Amino acid sequence: MRRIILAGNWKMNQTPKQAKALLEELKNSLPATRHTVAVFPPYLALTQAVAAGEPFLVGAQNCHFEDKGAFTGEISLPMLSEIGVKAVIVGHSERRQYFGETDETVNKKTLAVLRAGLTPVVCIGETLPQRESGAYADVLKGQLCAALSGVSAQQVPYVVVAYEPVWAIGTGVTASAQQAEEVCAMLRGQLGLLYDADRASQVSILYGGSMNAGNAASLLEMENIDGGLIGGASLKPAEFAAIVQAANEVKGALV
Ligand code: 13P
Repeated sequence: MRRIILAGNWKMNQTPKQAKALLEELKNSLPATRHTVAVFPPYLALTQAVAAGEPFLVGAQNCHFEDKGAFTGEISLPMLSEIGVKAVIVGHSERRQYFGETDETVNKKTLAVLRAGLTPVVCIGETLPQRESGAYADVLKGQLCAALSGVSAQQVPYVVVAYEPVWAIGTGVTASAQQAEEVCAMLRGQLGLLYDADRASQVSILYGGSMNAGNAASLLEMENIDGGLIGGASLKPAEFAAIVQAANEVKGALV
């Protein structure tokens, strides 16, 4: 069965000292859960996050697709892997928008993360004009197919897909549970066409975009939404704890 994942994308927030304090606060606030709780702090706080131990699975917000070389300012997968990082966010819309990430680099990174034995959290999402014009389904299918080009059927269950509508990120506007479910179901259908229904059923598909304590339960209740990629609310221990609690309530009790 696919994993339920509650993941905090801290973006460019928290100095290492602040991160240490936040991790401590999170540890004290989070309810016990059988679901996966992941944090994606800035690079400089990854060591603190790994050292914090349970319950956190620790991921990076980006990586380079080459293992080493003349790429000033970049961080490679062997570097991340060596310090205990287990996952990498790939193709976040902020990286596409501000740092020139393309479907091609997203694909290279996805393949590289899998090769390194880590979990890629592949982000896709439509802009507001794409949503309003009705073109969003084709846009999203295109982003998904491009990101997964060359990913084998054996590898695909290790991919996590995050549907993050650009118009919902950091705006306080959340996709309705029905809108998010429609897309996540469509993406699973597309995975079924690219691979097969069994493999598609093993891929965790997360929703991201202004998820918070108030709307988490209604989103997580949806059959094809396997968790959240949470920005702002993941920096507030009480909010993040409430989201994990909502997952406990709607996605199955503790073991
Ligand atoms: P917000 O939860 O702040 O809208 O951010 C979502 C996001 O981009 C997570 O990757």
